[in-house]
Amino acid sequence: MRIILGVTGGIAAYKAADLARSLVRDGHEVQAVLTRSAEEFVSPTTFAALTGRKVLTNLFEPSAAIEHIDLAQANDLLLVAPATANILAEFAHGLAGGFLSTLYLAFRGPVILAPAMNTNMWEHEATRANMETLRRRGHVIVEPGVGLLACGTFGAGRLAENDGILDAVRKTLNPGVRDLEGETILITAGPTQEPIDPVRFISNRSSGKMGYALAEAALDRGARVILVSGPVALDPPRGAEVVRVRTAVEMRDAVFLHLEPATAIIKCAAVADFRPAAPARQKIKKKGAPATLELEPVGDILAELGRTRGERLLVGFAAETENVLAYALRKLEEKNCDMIVANRVGGEGAGFESDTNEVLLVMRGGVVVEVPRAPKREIADRILGQMIRLRRTAGVTR
Ligand code: PMT
Repeated sequence: MRIILGVTGGIAAYKAADLARSLVRDGHEVQAVLTRSAEEFVSPTTFAALTGRKVLTNLFEPSAAIEHIDLAQANDLLLVAPATANILAEFAHGLAGGFLSTLYLAFRGPVILAPAMNTNMWEHEATRANMETLRRRGHVIVEPGVGLLACGTFGAGRLAENDGILDAVRKTLNPGVRDLEGETILITAGPTQEPIDPVRFISNRSSGKMGYALAEAALDRGARVILVSGPVALDPPRGAEVVRVRTAVEMRDAVFLHLEPATAIIKCAAVADFRPAAPARQKIKKKGAPATLELEPVGDILAELGRTRGERLLVGFAAETENVLAYALRKLEEKNCDMIVANRVGGEGAGFESDTNEVLLVMRGGVVVEVPRAPKREIADRILGQMIRLRRTAGVTR
């Protein structure tokens, strides 16, 4: 495919060079376009060497006025990374003062924008309104990550990792990509409920949204999906083979009953660690109710899978309120997983119940990929993309 890579002026512009290299490696023809301010940070020569093409920078060069129309017609995708607050504003308002913004107006194909800027600029009402306009226009936004920024502040605004930008490119160019054809993925989702008596139970806040998003994404990519689900209020995605369970023991039994055809397992469910040791047969009466509830540990399904998985790819989750990375690394080892999806829980916009999440994908060998806040369906696609990469690179085969 033919891709225009727009690079605008920010400290993250240097990362665009590696992006250009990866796009070329993936078989694309890449035409780099640098804004004037990008040239303050990176040299066109670098991009010319990486793409094998003359880099376009200036609207007022002879022939450039026609060139932007030709380019707009000849390319399949416009990707801007990093996209500064200024270029986002120009795009949102249809200003055409530079080569890239003029090209944008002439371009009719899909547009992917990977913003990068200081946190205050990213959170400013003006930028938020511009992003809303661009989203409504149907452009794909690769959300910036949270971290230490070049300006010394900590917050949102860091250019997304190249892996995330490349995933967005692949998905946009091949919307119907069925890269999980032939795989059978066993996914657990939702909470478990551990009875105290016939009408009461111990449970947690899992809504099932993350696990169901994984099931939907895997089905869209061609996988057969066995969805072992705790009690949730969601409709399962069409095509999923749903096994409904209530308790952790039922979930364990369902997982092992349906394990045989699975080529990969994703343990997204929030499973009880403890259950009432002696659930009452009859409803406990208020009068005379015991002051304490005796609990006993429940077997760890993921750990058991880690011991018996065979060649299957095994992905666990970690829901943590602190030391997210350290605990995820420990779970990776202790439960013999290929990847742990670690999410910080207990706040707004991530983890339990919310429609969005933000996670760390922690792999064997210490590789960690940060996936910034995005709808759970997007997070699901990033997890599946990483699983496919693990198969390819680590040689984890069926
Ligand atoms: O359902 P949502 O509202 O969308 O919320 C999503 C989520 C927060 C539930 C999900 O993203 C998530 O983090 N799921 C894992 C929750 C959890 O139980 O985490 P944990 O750190 O306690 O467990 C670690 C891993 O061990 C998990 O893969 C879990 O499935 C597994 N486990 C835990 C206990 C147990 N008895 N058996 C298990 O297999």
